[in-house]
Amino acid sequence: MMTPSVSQKAACSRAFLTWRSSFSEPNVASSSRIQSLGPRPGFSTLHRLRKKRKGQRVKDPLDDLLLKTLTSQRAMEERFLQMEERRLQRDMEVEERRMQLEQRRFELEREHEFRMFNVFAQMLSILKQSNSSSSSSVALPRGLDFIQVLSDIAGMGGGGGLQEARAMQVGRPLSERRTDMYSFCNPGEFQSSPFLSARGNIANLFRGSTEEGYKAYHADKYDEDKNPNGIINFGTSENKLCFDLMSKRLTEQLTQSDMNLMEPPLLQYPDWKGHMFLREEVARFLTYYCKAPAPLKAENVIVLNGCGSLFSALATVLCDPGEAVLIATPFYGGITQSLFLYGNVKLVYAYLDSKITGTSTRPFQLTVDKLEKALQDARSEGVGVKALILLNPQNPLGDIYSLSELRDYLEFAKRHELHVIVDEIYMLSVFDESATFHSVLGMDRLPDPQRTHVMWGISKDFAVSGIRFGTLYTENQDVANAVASLCYFHGVCGPVQYKVAQLLRDRDWINQVYLRANHARLKAAHTYVTDELKTLGVPFLNRNAGFFVWIDFRKYLRTGTFEEEMLLWRRFLDNKVLLSCGKAFECSEPGWFRIIFADKTHRLQLGMQRIRRVLEEREREILSEDKDQPCQSDQDGKADSTDEVIFVSRHQEPGSTGGSNLGDLIGLLQQQMRSSDWLQKNTAEQFAQEKPEIYDVFSKLVGKQ
Ligand SMILES: Cc1ncc(COP(=O)(O)O)c(C=O)c1O
Repeated sequence: MMTPSVSQKAACSRAFLTWRSSFSEPNVASSSRIQSLGPRPGFSTLHRLRKKRKGQRVKDPLDDLLLKTLTSQRAMEERFLQMEERRLQRDMEVEERRMQLEQRRFELEREHEFRMFNVFAQMLSILKQSNSSSSSSVALPRGLDFIQVLSDIAGMGGGGGLQEARAMQVGRPLSERRTDMYSFCNPGEFQSSPFLSARGNIANLFRGSTEEGYKAYHADKYDEDKNPNGIINFGTSENKLCFDLMSKRLTEQLTQSDMNLMEPPLLQYPDWKGHMFLREEVARFLTYYCKAPAPLKAENVIVLNGCGSLFSALATVLCDPGEAVLIATPFYGGITQSLFLYGNVKLVYAYLDSKITGTSTRPFQLTVDKLEKALQDARSEGVGVKALILLNPQNPLGDIYSLSELRDYLEFAKRHELHVIVDEIYMLSVFDESATFHSVLGMDRLPDPQRTHVMWGISKDFAVSGIRFGTLYTENQDVANAVASLCYFHGVCGPVQYKVAQLLRDRDWINQVYLRANHARLKAAHTYVTDELKTLGVPFLNRNAGFFVWIDFRKYLRTGTFEEEMLLWRRFLDNKVLLSCGKAFECSEPGWFRIIFADKTHRLQLGMQRIRRVLEEREREILSEDKDQPCQSDQDGKADSTDEVIFVSRHQEPGSTGGSNLGDLIGLLQQQMRSSDWLQKNTAEQFAQEKPEIYDVFSKLVGKQ
């Protein structure tokens, strides 16, 4: 039944009041007796009758009776009208109140849904932590579930929403409930904007620690002269060591050829794949630096504005909305955004952790077993996985894959008909000669060339993230053409294409000047930061590619939760140093952090001082908390990195001879000596028997001091 609206009611009531005011007019018909006497007497008739009675002073009983009847009828009618008026007034008020209540109930329902969702997300987060021992699992699409949930909650259309997200969780074993929508945005703080679509709302709320830290940094940037107390940025993966070389080179090129920058072809719409002169240059460049067995072809090259856009474009053309891509965690978190915000493509995680178990020989090692498990889990739940992402060199671990590892991953993908997106954006940022980078494009034979797509860009290797340039190499012309259609939205402007071609052509300068200086500077900065970490007794992965060190701060967490990790991250930020916490990379173990070391010495020194201050403060707090609770057992979840044997071993290529280097061993010893009761528990004699090679170094170290 239709409920009348407030305005309909109001119109009714206005009509009634008009009718009521006309009611006292003469000739309105009423009782049957009066009707039979002619028109119903109004007030003036009564008045006349009274006057007549007074004037005649003749008692006419009929008149008297008539007068009384009319008077009482009139009183009754008045009363009836008043009652009717009051009833209508009440109806109107009730209706208004009902509308208000309905509105309020709607709002409460929304709030309730959000609260439930928040609790749900936190529960999942807790489940995830409590299950961190398992090596791989399906991570449901954080974004995808969330958009459905938001659509439901905000009444913005969409699918099964919260119910669906719950159902998907309920159906799976506890150990595999890893969905985590908590970190990338906080639904508790969500305020849907009436100006935005569901997608717009998601984009609006796509914030996590990365966004928060980035914002804080931009509001209070460190500057040696102007803002010495500002924030030091060890969070953004940028190479700040080579601006001098790059700006000099680009300016030199400008003066030589600035007229060419204004040539008409550069100022007109280009081929969406990029100008041919640039694609040819990229093909030559990749052939050389990737050590391709045969010249790579310009027609397989596409250029666009950065690898972030490339991830978006590839995900969109390889997957349908709701389908997924497999990736190992921890990984560069920007990929989540790239895949999801346009393409609505989700990620399935193969979780890596610090324990060396099964077939792995190093912490956080990617193995085919882990990929297989993650893929099977996802497929058994009906998730359509279309591709695998490989980051090589890996961000944030710094791992470089050996040729045999690469082959294994590609064969795995071929077996399952998965596309492989290989991101080699740090390929020229391998700063130690002892490490060898192998590009997929350098392999003699690709297991599945039509499904192998390789990306590279200049943001990292040429320290110019602001220029926005990335490139894709794929032999698959369908993929190339589909991506090219999206390049209309992600193009690189003509003059920049021209400059990049010039840059890539200059092989002598790149090899003799730039890479030499860049690698030496990266190595020195890496050594400085890792030495500091060793002095602090903090374990880390000792790699030699990229701009980052993956650090184990677990001993500074008491209960080993992501909430604590976040608190520690905030503590660093409060002390004016921005790091990235493991959560931002979907790491399954709380307490890992990434430091970007590719920065000038004075900033590294100041940043490390600030980090040291926070860690020492935290150490004191933990000690005093321990004193207050002397009976607490290790079972309470206190992280202890010493029992995980994850300390600083350099990544060994399979087949190369093992053995730690002196720096690592000294670091290990310093760390162990610092850790509370090591000296009491470990006598020199016992140690010499158990680990003679370490004892040897230890003796040397003690001798030196
Ligand atoms: C592994 C990886 N891929 C891609 C990107 C994004 O690169 P671009 O600046 O070309 O968008 C980054 C940025 O940090 C990254 O670390």
